[in-house]
Amino acid sequence: MKKVLIFLLCIGLGTNAIADEGMWLPLLVKRLNQVDMEKMGLQLTADEIYSVNNSSLKDAVVNLGGGFCTGEIISKDGLLLTNHHCGYDYVQGHSTVENDILTNGFWAASKSDELPNEGLFVQFLVRIEDVTKKVLKKVKADMSEDMRTETIDAAITEIETEAKGDTHYDVKVKSFYEGNEFYLFVYETYNDVRLVGAPPESIGKFGGDTDNWMWPRHTGDFSLFRVYSGPDGKPAEYSPENIPLKPKHHLPVSLDGVQENDFAMVFGYPGSTNRYLTSFGVDLAIEETNPARVKIRGKKLEIMKEGMDADPAVRLAYASKYARISNYWKYFIGQTKGLKDLDVYDKKVEIERNVSNWIHDKKSREKEYGDPVTEIGKAYDEIEKYNLPFYYHIEAGFGVELVSSSYKMSGLIQALKDEDPEKAQKSIENYKVISEHFFKDYNPKIDQQVLAAMTALFLQDIDTTYIPKGFRAASNIFHNESDLMDGFKASSASDYDAFSTFIFSNSILVNHGKMMAFYANPSAEVLESDPGYILANSVYESYKNIAEKRGGALSQLDFGRRNFIAALRKMNKDKKYYPDANSTMRLTYGKVSSYNPRDAVHYNYLTTLEGVMEKEDSTNPEFIVAPKLKALYEAKDYGQYGTNGKLYVNFITNNDITGGNSGSPVINGSGQLIGTAFDGNWEAMSGDIAFEPVIQRCINVDIRYILFIIDKFAGASHLIDEMTIIKNGSAQTKAN
Ligand code: ARG
Repeated sequence: MKKVLIFLLCIGLGTNAIADEGMWLPLLVKRLNQVDMEKMGLQLTADEIYSVNNSSLKDAVVNLGGGFCTGEIISKDGLLLTNHHCGYDYVQGHSTVENDILTNGFWAASKSDELPNEGLFVQFLVRIEDVTKKVLKKVKADMSEDMRTETIDAAITEIETEAKGDTHYDVKVKSFYEGNEFYLFVYETYNDVRLVGAPPESIGKFGGDTDNWMWPRHTGDFSLFRVYSGPDGKPAEYSPENIPLKPKHHLPVSLDGVQENDFAMVFGYPGSTNRYLTSFGVDLAIEETNPARVKIRGKKLEIMKEGMDADPAVRLAYASKYARISNYWKYFIGQTKGLKDLDVYDKKVEIERNVSNWIHDKKSREKEYGDPVTEIGKAYDEIEKYNLPFYYHIEAGFGVELVSSSYKMSGLIQALKDEDPEKAQKSIENYKVISEHFFKDYNPKIDQQVLAAMTALFLQDIDTTYIPKGFRAASNIFHNESDLMDGFKASSASDYDAFSTFIFSNSILVNHGKMMAFYANPSAEVLESDPGYILANSVYESYKNIAEKRGGALSQLDFGRRNFIAALRKMNKDKKYYPDANSTMRLTYGKVSSYNPRDAVHYNYLTTLEGVMEKEDSTNPEFIVAPKLKALYEAKDYGQYGTNGKLYVNFITNNDITGGNSGSPVINGSGQLIGTAFDGNWEAMSGDIAFEPVIQRCINVDIRYILFIIDKFAGASHLIDEMTIIKNGSAQTKAN
C-alpha cells in the first residue's frame, strides 16, 4: 500500500529517491544513503562499503573488459564469479565440435588446468574523487558550447595526467548529470584472467531466449574465472609464472538464503541508462529507433538460425554472436512495449512542463537556465533527420560481418603504401592475427545471405542520400552513377542476391585460404580493388558522414540537457538525484521482493529446482535438463545447499540495475554474498528510461544453486573449499 502511494507521488515529480531506485556512487553513499540503508537492514559501516585506505566491499568487485559485465572475488585466491552469459564468448572460444565445453560445461580440476583468455581483463577500483571544481574552473557562463567543451577537455587531460603520474594505474575522468559534475576514477587492471568453471549451457542458459528478460526464471547463469598477478602481486600479462591474485577483500558466501523484504544491495558497473531522457527521446525510440533495430536484428537472427540449425560447427561458431544480437532484439521489443504500456511519454511531458513552469516563474531562473525544453525540442528536429540512417549503418551496414571485419583494412593499405617494409610487416602480422580470429567463427554462406538481406533493407527503407555507394550497386536505378562497383551491373531495381553473390565470389576477404595467401604476398592494389573491401569502405565512409552530422545535432542537445537537469535538481532541492549509469561503479540497495505482474497474478520472489523440472522439454534445446541434474533432483540430493527438501534457483529484488551489472554480487546486510544479478523483468523493460518502483525487479541466481552446481553437480568441491562459507550466520570451519 505504501509503495503505491510513493509511486503516485513519483509520477508528478520524476526521479524519486526511494530506496530501491538509484544507482549511487560509492563515494557518496555515506552522505546520501547510509542512514536509509541502516533502516532497511544494513549492518556495515560506510567505511566497510567504500574506503580508499582500508579494505572494503568495493575491493571485491571488478568490471570485466572495462565494463561489459561485473564480477566479484569470492576467495583469497582470486576466484571470480560472474554470469554464464558474461563468460559465454570465452567458453565458446575454447569450444570445438569435438570438445564442446559450451554444451557440456567445463571444470578445471586444478589451477594448472585453468584456461587463459586473450583480451579479457578485469579492473579494480582504487579510488574515486570529485573533480567538478577543477574541471569547471575555467568555464565561464557566457562561453560558447564549443569553447566550453574545449576548456573542459583540456582540464580533464591535465587532471588525468596528474593522477596517473608514474603509476601503473588507469585513470579516467567522467561526466555526470550531463556535464554538471565530474569524477575521477583510478583503476588497477589485471590482464591474466583464466576460465575455471562453467556449467553446461542447459544450466547456464536454461530457458534460452524464451525465458530471457523474464520472471519466473530457472537459470544457473554463472561462470567462474580466476585473476592472476605477477609473482610480485602486481598486474602482469599472461605468463605461466603468474600466481593467483591475493585480493584486498573477498566476499564471504552465505548459505542462509533469502526471505521476502530482506535487505539486499548490488555493487557493479551499470553501463548506461537514460533516466533523464525527455519526451522527445521517448517518442523517437518508440516510433522509429526501436522498431528499426528489431526489424534488422530479426532478419539477421532468422538467417543465422537456419545456418546454425543445419550444422553443429556453425551452431558453435555463431552461438555467441547470435546470443548478443538476440538479447537486445528482445530488449528493444520489451522496451517499446513498456514505454507504451506504462505511459512513459506522458510522464515525461508532465515533468518537462513542471520544470518549464518553474523556470518561467522567475526572470532570474530564465537567465540561469534559458528555455531547456524548447532547446531540446529544436535539437531533436535536427537529430531526427539522421536517426534512421544512422541506426541502419550501425545495425545493417556493420551488421554484415564482411563489412565490420574489413573496413579497418585501410590501415593495412596505408602501411603497404608507406614504403616502410618494417612497418608494413608489423601491420601484416597484426592483421593476420585479427583475420585468424575472424575466420575461426565465420561462415561465408550465412554472411552472404545477411549481405543480400541488409542491402534490401537499406535500399527499401533509407533515403538515397544516406545509402552507401556499395549498396546502391545492387539496384539498376543507380546505373547512371559512375564507378558504383567495378564488374557488377545490377539487372533489376532489386538485384540483391546477384549483388551479394558477386561480392562473395570475388572478394578474398571472405575466404580463409585466399586471405592467408594474400598475407604471404600482400599488395595494396589487391585490397583496394577487392569488391568486399570497396563495399566495406563505402559503408564506413558513409557512416562517418552521417555520424558527424548526427553528432553535430546531438551536441545541440548538450546545452538543453545540462540545464534541464540542473533546473530539475534545483526545483526539487531536497531530493536526492542519482546520475545516469555510465560504466562507473555504483551501489543500489533495496530488498527481496515479490510482485504482481498483472491483474490477479502474483509472482513469488523465489524459484526452485521443481520449477526447472516443470519446464523440462527434451524436444526443445532451450529446456533440456541434464541427466545428472535430474538424478540429483530425484534423489533430493542437495547437500548443505538445500533448505527443507527444496533447492532454490533464482530470486528477485527491487534493486536498480542495467546492462553491465550482469554478474554483480547481491550482498546481504552483513556484507555476505547471497546471489549474482543477471537480468531484468519483462514488465519493466522501459526501466532504463524510467524506473518503475512497483514492478521493476532485478533477477538473481541464488548463491546456493551456484554452489550446489559446483559441488554436487560438477564435483568441484575444491572450489568450495577456497571460499569463506557462512552458515547460520557464522563462518564454517573447514575440515582441511
Ligand atoms: N538479458 C540478460 C542481460 O542482458 C542476458 C541473458 C542471457 N541469456 C539469454 N538467454 N540470452 O543481462
